[in-house]
Amino acid sequence: MKYSRITGTGSYLPPRRLTNADLVAELAAKGVETSDDWIVERTGIRARHFAADGVFSSDLGLAAGKKALEAAGRTAEDVDLIIVATSTPDMVFPSTACILQNKLGANGCAAFDVQAVCSGFVYALAVADSMVKTGAAKCALVVGAEIFSRILDFNDRTTCVLFGDGAGAVVLEASDTPGILSSDLHADGKHVGILCVPGHVSGGAILGDPLLKMDGQAVFKLAVGLLESAARATLAKANLTEADIDWLVPHQANIRIMQSTARKLKLSMDKVVVTVDQHGNTSAASIPLALDVGVRSGQVKPGQTLLLEGVGGGFTWGALLLIL
Ligand code: UT7
Repeated sequence: MKYSRITGTGSYLPPRRLTNADLVAELAAKGVETSDDWIVERTGIRARHFAADGVFSSDLGLAAGKKALEAAGRTAEDVDLIIVATSTPDMVFPSTACILQNKLGANGCAAFDVQAVCSGFVYALAVADSMVKTGAAKCALVVGAEIFSRILDFNDRTTCVLFGDGAGAVVLEASDTPGILSSDLHADGKHVGILCVPGHVSGGAILGDPLLKMDGQAVFKLAVGLLESAARATLAKANLTEADIDWLVPHQANIRIMQSTARKLKLSMDKVVVTVDQHGNTSAASIPLALDVGVRSGQVKPGQTLLLEGVGGGFTWGALLLIL
């Protein structure tokens, strides 16, 4: 088997949905001033979902993973690798992948987390692709699952309006036909401080701030350039050009970043899967969530060429080209 191929997609959003109006009202009650107009104009976000207390990333990932397995015609027994991309794990350890594995009943297979924040799903899929191609796995469940609502500072209007909770998943199987064509991953740790949750556990206490900090403008400026270069590198590795892309499935952080990438790649917005309006930024979950929405709506079809790309804390970025 020469390739790895996505054979099923799934996603899950927690039921509690907050429109901008709902969030604006909640924040106003705390004395934090923002507006639907500002959020829509600067980000394209109109609503997001927040998980209930007692629900964990593994629960969201499990629901998404079950749907992906069903779509692939596979069961938990078929799975020999689970990778979960998350920055909001259930516990410090063990990995959310191990917890999800037990809830799924796929005990015994390899399971681990990938931590690359909003690029996490692209990283996880590239790692799974390598493992499938080398024969280390035949049927991988690759999940992006996040509960960012737990790490938001609801007194900081510059960040708390941007993020949501959710999960997406794909089943990746060994195949004689493509499949994942190429990937391009990068990180530059000198930008750690522009997007981070600086707190850590020490001696039974949390030291440092355990809530998300972001220099939005710095992230924005870096993101637009890096996404274009990763997209072009991925295309070049597969000997394809931007004209070969049927769908861009980008990380859903800000509609303006997606529009800028589409412009640079000369793609019309009709070829971009957009879910940021309904999901907000769900970090590592946003790409598989968008992919599943595209597939289940019938827009994204088998045989089409897809470019997935993400950028996030680290700073990390990457792209992955595949035939669905
Ligand atoms: O997922 C990982 C990757 N993350 C991203 O890609 C995020 C990248 N960054 C962004 O998407 C944008 O930078 C933001 C959406 C975060 C901010 O948009 P911006 O156009 O860069 O706004 P800004 O930070 O320049 O702020 C403009 C103004 C400021 O007021 P002054 O200084 O001009 O008076 C802010 O204080 O908007 C103000 N502002 C708000 N006003 C109402 C900031 N947040 C809010 C808010 N409501 N929620």
